[in-house]
Amino acid sequence: MATRRVLTGMRTTGALHLGHYVGALKNWKEMQDRGEHECFFLLADVQALTTHAEKPQVLVQSVQEVVMDWLSVGLDPSLPNVHFVLQSQIAHRSELSILLCMVTPHALLMRNPTLKTELDSQSDATVGFMMYPVDQAADIYCVSPTPPEDGDELLVPTGDDQSPILELTREIGRRFNKAYGRVFVPCGSLFGDVGRLVGTDGQAKMSKSLGNTINLSDDVAAVAEAVRRMKTDPTGLNPRLRATDPGVVEGNPIFLYHDTFNSDLEEVDDLKERYLAGRVSDQEVKARLVVAINDFLDPIRDRRAQFADADLREIVAAGTEVASKNSTIVIERVRELMHLQYPR
Ligand code: TRP
Repeated sequence: MATRRVLTGMRTTGALHLGHYVGALKNWKEMQDRGEHECFFLLADVQALTTHAEKPQVLVQSVQEVVMDWLSVGLDPSLPNVHFVLQSQIAHRSELSILLCMVTPHALLMRNPTLKTELDSQSDATVGFMMYPVDQAADIYCVSPTPPEDGDELLVPTGDDQSPILELTREIGRRFNKAYGRVFVPCGSLFGDVGRLVGTDGQAKMSKSLGNTINLSDDVAAVAEAVRRMKTDPTGLNPRLRATDPGVVEGNPIFLYHDTFNSDLEEVDDLKERYLAGRVSDQEVKARLVVAINDFLDPIRDRRAQFADADLREIVAAGTEVASKNSTIVIERVRELMHLQYPR
């Protein structure tokens, strides 16, 4: 039977927020529940060092936070098809990474737009940062079904910001297979209908560094405070001074959030109608949003509480072990084909 695998991951740089849920976790959970693929969810702690090298002590805590966030949204590593994998602890991942470098043209790597921008703007960019796309290819190929059989599948669901990396990963796989023999199943991307969530300030992205997040672990009061501070008019073009002024719904972060999190569609329609007509205050629209977001977060909070005493180390070690076993099979085949062996 063909092997169907999925690998995807996140850098462990701290607590996750609603943007992570909308942009990734929701999809991951659906994929897990469909049960058609064996899912490897990667805690990218090595890749976190590309930007967080200065605070190593935070890293362990970040891994813990991300694991708790994943558990709290219903990712379930007790299912046989779900593995939480800690990047730094996968056997042979680093070796695979350096060997993949040998078939990666420098010029091709440098074509990556993110890399180009960052390397041009940061005078202290590291080699670790420069090669992270290849390193990410190693993450993916560590769980490549080996030996590959017809029909085997290796999918990488991500946001479309990762598409240049996946393109490179496929090219690396092709080049290796051509030069040395077929080892890697060409990975497929899966961008799906990944959602995007603006920040509480209306900026295109919710992100910790912009200080415009609502975290999955936020309590009721924190949500209320974040919503209270939300701008209804981030562009400043449609100032609304009184509740009797007609408001603008389109592009208004408050309504974008209502559309995403408020399950009471009738209420949302009613609020929009009254907002356009100047018959509802910002405060009321925000108050309803606070309720909606807290309703959304409540089951997540409940699940988090259930895992308060869970042994995270054990959970992560079990998933990492599965990926490690596969990586050992992969690297042995790679070494053999690259003739990296003792002389006879
Ligand atoms: N670069 C990804 C991000 O920033 C994280 C990541 C690391 C990843 N390794 C991966 C994603 C492998 C998909 C596959 O979110």
